[in-house]
Amino acid sequence: MPDPSNYTDRPWMDPEAEPFIKVQSVSKHFGDFTAVDNVDLEIYKGELFSLLGGSGCGKTTLLRMLAGFETPSSGYIFIDGVNMNDVPPYERPINMMFQSYALFPHMNVEKNVAYGLRRDGIAGDEINQRVDDMLAMVELTQFRKRKPHQLSGGQRQRVALARALVKQPKVLLLDEPLAALDKRLRENTQFELMNIQDQLGVTFVVVTHDQEEAMTLSTRIAVMDAGRFMQIGTPTEIYEFPESRLVANFIGSANMFQGRITENGPDHVIVQCKQPDCEFYIDHGVSIQEGNKVWVAVRPEKITISSEASDYNGNNCIKGIVHDIGYLGKLSTYRVKTADETLIDVTSPNLARPKDGNLAMDWDDEVYLSWEASSAVVLTK
Ligand SMILES: Nc1ncnc2c1ncn2[C@@H]1O[C@H](COP(=O)(O)OP(=O)(O)OP(=O)(O)O)[C@@H](O)[C@H]1O
Ligand SMILES: [Mg+2]
Repeated sequence: MPDPSNYTDRPWMDPEAEPFIKVQSVSKHFGDFTAVDNVDLEIYKGELFSLLGGSGCGKTTLLRMLAGFETPSSGYIFIDGVNMNDVPPYERPINMMFQSYALFPHMNVEKNVAYGLRRDGIAGDEINQRVDDMLAMVELTQFRKRKPHQLSGGQRQRVALARALVKQPKVLLLDEPLAALDKRLRENTQFELMNIQDQLGVTFVVVTHDQEEAMTLSTRIAVMDAGRFMQIGTPTEIYEFPESRLVANFIGSANMFQGRITENGPDHVIVQCKQPDCEFYIDHGVSIQEGNKVWVAVRPEKITISSEASDYNGNNCIKGIVHDIGYLGKLSTYRVKTADETLIDVTSPNLARPKDGNLAMDWDDEVYLSWEASSAVVLTK
C-alpha cells in the first residue's frame, strides 16, 4: 500500500504543495474567436504534464502564453510564485521546443545545440562539455557536423530536443516533440524523456494529440476541447474514470449506450438500456437521481466474448452474432450485433495460435458477451 502521506510522486494530492506553474482564469481571444477559454491549471515541480486534444483546440496557444510569446487576453500566469504577465520570454525560466522545431539552417548540429549557451555568454569549455553530453544522449554524436537539411525528420527533431534541453531550463515546453519519429524511435525517445525528467528534475509540459503517448509519458493529462479543459487527471483516472462521453471517446475507444437509472443504491446502480436491450449492474454508486437519463460506457477490452452460454444469466451479458472480425496479431477485434441491431465492439487477446488457421470465433457465429460489474462507467454528459 502506498503511504497516503507520501506525496513525492503525486504532489497535486498534497494540500501543502505550491504549484510551480499556476494558470488562473486565462483566456485568449483572436478577434472574436476564443482560442483559450477561461482555463485554470496547476502544474507541480517535476511533473510531466500533457495537454491532449484534437487539432485547433488551443494547445499551442496555451503553451505560447506560458512561454511569453503570446499575451493572455485576461487572467494570470505565475511561475515559481512570480506573476509572468509583464515578464518577456527570455527572462522566463522556460524553454520551448516549437511544433515546427525551427532549427537554424546554416548552422550544423553542434552549433544549433550550442546557440543558446553562447548567447548566454557561457564559457567555451562548459559549452563543449554540455553539447557533447546532450548529443550523446539523443544519439547524434556522429552527425554533429551535419547541417539540418542533411538530416532525417526524426534526427532534426532530436536536434531541436537537444537544443531545448541543453539550457537546463526549469520548465520545458514541448509542442508535439515526437511527431516525426517512427514507432520504435518514438518509444525510445519517450523513455529517454522520462529519464531526463528524472535526472534533471525539469518540469515538462508536453503537447500531443497522440493519446497513447500521453498515457505512457505523463504524470497527469489535461484533455482539451474548444479552448477548455474537459478533465484533468492521471492516465489511469482519465482512462478508467472518464467524466464525460467526450473524454471516454477521446482516450481509447468505448461502447456507449443510453439508458435510465432504475435502481440507485449506495454501492451499486442499475441502468436499463434499450439499445442494447440489457440491464447494466454497476458496482459503484453515483450521485444521480433514479429515472435520470445517463450513458453507460464499456471499453472493448473489458468485455469477454464466448461461444458458450454457460455464463449467460441475464445480468451484464448479452447475446449476439459476430458481424465483423479484425485480426491484429496479438489481439482480435470483434463487432457483435445484438437482436436489436446494436453493434458492440470487443477486443480479445489471441493467447493461442489459431488452429488450422481458423480463429476461435467466425463470422455469423452466435456469441455471448459479458462484463464485470466494475467494468462499466456511468456518464451524465
Ligand atoms: N494568431 C492567430 N490568429 C487567429 N487565430 C489563431 C491564431 N493562432 C491560433 N489561432 C486559432 O486558435 C485556435 C487554436 O490554435 P492552436 O494553434 O492553439 O491549436 P492546437 O491545439 O495547437 O492545434 P494543432 O494540434 O493543430 O497544432 C485555432 O482555431 C487557430 O486557428
Ligand atoms: Mg499546435
